[in-house]
Amino acid sequence: MSSNNHDYLDVWKGMEDMKRLKLARSIGVSNFNSSEINRILVNSDTVPSVNQIEINPTYTDLELVAYCQSLNITVLSYAPFGFMVPRPFVNNPTNSTFEEPVLVKLAKKYGKKTNQVVLRYLIDRGTIPIPKSVNKERIKSNIDVFDFSLTSEEIYSINELNENAKVYNFDQEHLTAIFDYFDLY
Ligand SMILES: NC(=O)c1ccc[n+]([C@@H]2O[C@H](COP(=O)([O-])OP(=O)(O)OC[C@H]3O[C@@H](n4cnc5c(N)ncnc54)[C@H](OP(=O)(O)O)[C@@H]3O)[C@@H](O)[C@H]2O)c1
Repeated sequence: MSSNNHDYLDVWKGMEDMKRLKLARSIGVSNFNSSEINRILVNSDTVPSVNQIEINPTYTDLELVAYCQSLNITVLSYAPFGFMVPRPFVNNPTNSTFEEPVLVKLAKKYGKKTNQVVLRYLIDRGTIPIPKSVNKERIKSNIDVFDFSLTSEEIYSINELNENAKVYNFDQEHLTAIFDYFDLY
């Protein structure tokens, strides 16, 4: 049940109707945890195509990603740069930066930049990162990640940076700060 008393299962059933009517090719969810996904699986006919969730080096959420992948639910990883970029709407609980030595070492090894190592890490975990930039050079850099890949050990070494530090929390206090910052009223 969401905070404004809409049951997401009712919404999901409406989305299933859209798929049946061929108004949508595939349907998915965002910010769903494993219990919420389970409730959909038990009460509907459609497995979500995707779950869009926050994943980055300081919020790795290994369990939820593994659970989604075990069900063939594609994980879209938003906020891929976590607290490496400014998040003015929330206090930064980490020391995370693009100069993190683990990332710098890998960037040197592959002749890439650390933002590219982070995106490659998310791709090599089988997720689809969705970085956002308004800067042409950074957009070019963010897409230039398909000429190298990380080994399993390198992925594990980045997993070790996890601090369970999430940029986007959706409790009322954080939501108000996010809405204020992005002027969403
Ligand atoms: N489903 C949800 O609940 C949810 C929640 C949050 C976000 N999202 C989606 O996820 C997308 C990405 O989230 P996000 O905006 O948090 O992503 P992000 O890419 O982790 O962060 C965006 C910030 O990173 C900077 N940046 C981007 N590329 C960079 C680079 N190569 N080097 C240095 N800084 C860089 C951007 O600044 P510049 O623009 O100046 O480059 C911007 O300030 C959004 O478009 C949104 O649609 C979904």
